[in-house]
Amino acid sequence: MSQKLETFFKPKSIAVVGASKNSTKIGHATLKNILISDYDCKVYPINPKEKEILGVKCYKTLNDVPGKIDLVMVSVPAKIVPQIMRECVQKKVENTIIISSGFSEIGDHKLEDEIKKIAEKSNMRILGPNTMGYKNASDNLDASFVFGVPRKGNLSLISQSGALGIGMIYLANNEYVGVSKIIGVGNKLDIDDDDLIDYFSTDPETKVIGLYIEAIKDGRAFMNSIKACDKPVLVVKAGRSAAGARATASHTGSMAGSDKIYGAAIRQAGGIRCRDLVELFDMARALAGQPPAQGNRIGIITNGGGLGILLTDACEANGLTIPKLSQKTYNKIDKILPDLIRPNNPVDLVGDAGFYRYEASTRALLEDPNIDGVIVASVHGGYARPREFTGAILKMIRERKLHEEFKKPILGTWIGGKEFEDLVLDLKAAGVPIYPSSWRTARAMTALYLEGERIKRERKQKRG
Ligand code: ACO
Repeated sequence: MSQKLETFFKPKSIAVVGASKNSTKIGHATLKNILISDYDCKVYPINPKEKEILGVKCYKTLNDVPGKIDLVMVSVPAKIVPQIMRECVQKKVENTIIISSGFSEIGDHKLEDEIKKIAEKSNMRILGPNTMGYKNASDNLDASFVFGVPRKGNLSLISQSGALGIGMIYLANNEYVGVSKIIGVGNKLDIDDDDLIDYFSTDPETKVIGLYIEAIKDGRAFMNSIKACDKPVLVVKAGRSAAGARATASHTGSMAGSDKIYGAAIRQAGGIRCRDLVELFDMARALAGQPPAQGNRIGIITNGGGLGILLTDACEANGLTIPKLSQKTYNKIDKILPDLIRPNNPVDLVGDAGFYRYEASTRALLEDPNIDGVIVASVHGGYARPREFTGAILKMIRERKLHEEFKKPILGTWIGGKEFEDLVLDLKAAGVPIYPSSWRTARAMTALYLEGERIKRERKQKRG
């Protein structure tokens, strides 16, 4: 069971059992998704009645396929699955994905146990049952039956809910968050969250790991995997409330468990718990594109005093601090502000601030050794100049040299509604972590702070 998942995510040959000519069937969509992937591998449709499906030679059984099969995708009714699993074991198949539903999620543990027993005699890995499969965007392989192609990036996602997994693809695309791999774990008969965290921790395409979970089967293994992982692990754990836990039981047939215990255990292991999926993507965007914060002292720059206060409150509520400016930084910023205002933290650049005030004050905060991260906030205050803000924010956030020099993260808060929409899209498409809310920005900065703390702990442990 501790086998690496390399041939699972990068198979050289895939068979689809239950492939069909009928375009409304899941076996048809599964085969088609593989064929339309820009991925080089052998593909074998399996259907006892057909000679060819979608232009590809069809085999009656797995046994008839010449040579080795790295991955078998199964989309036949549940009662036929044990027989297919026996054939897989006989054929020495390395990995299977059981898409079929009708197992423990509807209370049929007997059928699932039967599959487990069959597979125990081999080294075969099983994803599911009751899963959508996976999409490996980094290698252009779609091993799922569902629509949706993620933008390429460094976030790898694990979802216990198939439908939410699909939703996450669209949410990620909409938020311009790039994905490396997204996988639905279904009933977790074999391949579990901990196996995937272990795999993603060594996967060069993955920089950040995100999970949606309803229940954990092996708590100790899960926590150990997070602890051993040297990448940020973001966890959305559903079933926080009593009613949510009841809904969990009827969705995947699993027990949500004590929410407080989960929360404490995830934190202790070094994972970051997210309230919901939007927060997960907010944090992922920051973690994938910005350096971690070396401490919790944040500098805020804004053209609107009110927004600065909201950000201060949100940061303080999340364990960050907004320290007073050092005399040196005060003097630097004082030179660029109009005569009537004096610098503070939050630094209020006032409503007519343009490119230079933003850029120069951000630089002053980055140079201050008492500041670990900077939030640049803009509010559409009537006569604001959004194009100039965009230019300044893009320059500040994307200038790699600046990061190398100061190793401090910069996030943006942008409140301007429809009139700012195109500019915000430009910024998101450029990978700039920008949020339309003070709370969301503060939570993303908290993730960067927690990641900085995790790295420090890891270094300390390595030193002994
Ligand atoms: N070997 C190969 N093919 C076989 C075999 C066999 N031993 N026996 C039957 N088949 C063929 C069938 O003849 C059929 O092909 P055909 O269309 O040419 O006749 C094909 O396999 C499929 O079998 P059907 O009986 O037609 O089953 P159907 O496609 O209707 O349903 C399915 C199968 C999709 C697995 C269904 O039982 C099921 O579980 N659906 C739910 C799947 C699901 O939602 N999973 C969770 C995903 S997560 C999420 O929510 C997104």
